[in-house]
Amino acid sequence: MENLISMGDAKDIVYELVNIAEDLKSGKITDKPLKDKSVGMIFEKSSTRTRVSFEVGIHQLGGQPLFLTTKDLQIGRGEPIPDTARVLSRFLDCITIRAKKHETVLELAENASIPVVSALTDLEHPCQIFADLLTIKEYKGDFDRKIVFIGDGNNVCNSLLLAAAYIGMDMTVACPEGYEPDGEIYELALEEAKVTGAKIEIERDVEKAVENADVLYTDVWISMGDEDQKEERERVFVPYQINMELLSKAKDDAIVMHCLPAIRGQEITDDVMLCDQSAIWDQAENRLHAQKAVLYYLFTNN
Ligand code: CP
Ligand code: NVA
Repeated sequence: MENLISMGDAKDIVYELVNIAEDLKSGKITDKPLKDKSVGMIFEKSSTRTRVSFEVGIHQLGGQPLFLTTKDLQIGRGEPIPDTARVLSRFLDCITIRAKKHETVLELAENASIPVVSALTDLEHPCQIFADLLTIKEYKGDFDRKIVFIGDGNNVCNSLLLAAAYIGMDMTVACPEGYEPDGEIYELALEEAKVTGAKIEIERDVEKAVENADVLYTDVWISMGDEDQKEERERVFVPYQINMELLSKAKDDAIVMHCLPAIRGQEITDDVMLCDQSAIWDQAENRLHAQKAVLYYLFTNN
């Protein structure tokens, strides 16, 4: 893996990255491959978890993080992405970038001579998924499970679908019509699932979807960039809420996950977020270990 832009970039090393994250978390891995290295972190959108976990993680691996907002970079005044990529490659050892458009990250990577890691785009959020897989492993011990993603077939859902297909985890997406995951990614996941035996499906009936589920996962109805569709989305997604009643229809020991930030009362209720079945806070913590694993891999394998 030279870059991590799509979950597909890590197709063959999903387990390895989860294992590295586990070893970093437990203290089994202690070396610091980012010593004397600098990592630029470009953000075009808001972030709490991704920004802080990358910044802390880079420091813990011995490196120097540079938090760069596009507002302050010359990108904000129109400097082309390729020029930015060429110049930053002369100073830095790696770039992480959260961008509005997936194409921006691809363009950056094409013109950079150092690894590029996506910190979320409109299409995917691969770093999130490694934290999610680590969390599922911690709670369930294996991936021979059924995960149900409830709500918008968005960036998080897209990356999770690919991961589920690669590792053979059954995944049902419960979403309203018109809010399915990306078509190409869904088709790719179905292809990959044929190899691993994962059952991948879309189900409109959310109660039916959660039957026999080990993991219920949700994300906001209105992602960053979708604000102009607020009214429509707040209407369409009403049946797609994780509340205690829906949770009671999954397996008794099902866990609840949410990448955060959450809008309580929309995609999830407060009592679910704070109940014993919520894995949400461990999942958030695992962002740190998972991102360190991605950087650890990039700096020890390239
Ligand atoms: N889950 C996630 O990526 O959170 P942030 O937007 O706070 O980084
Ligand atoms: N789907 C959300 C994820 C935030 C971490 C968004 O893109 O805003």
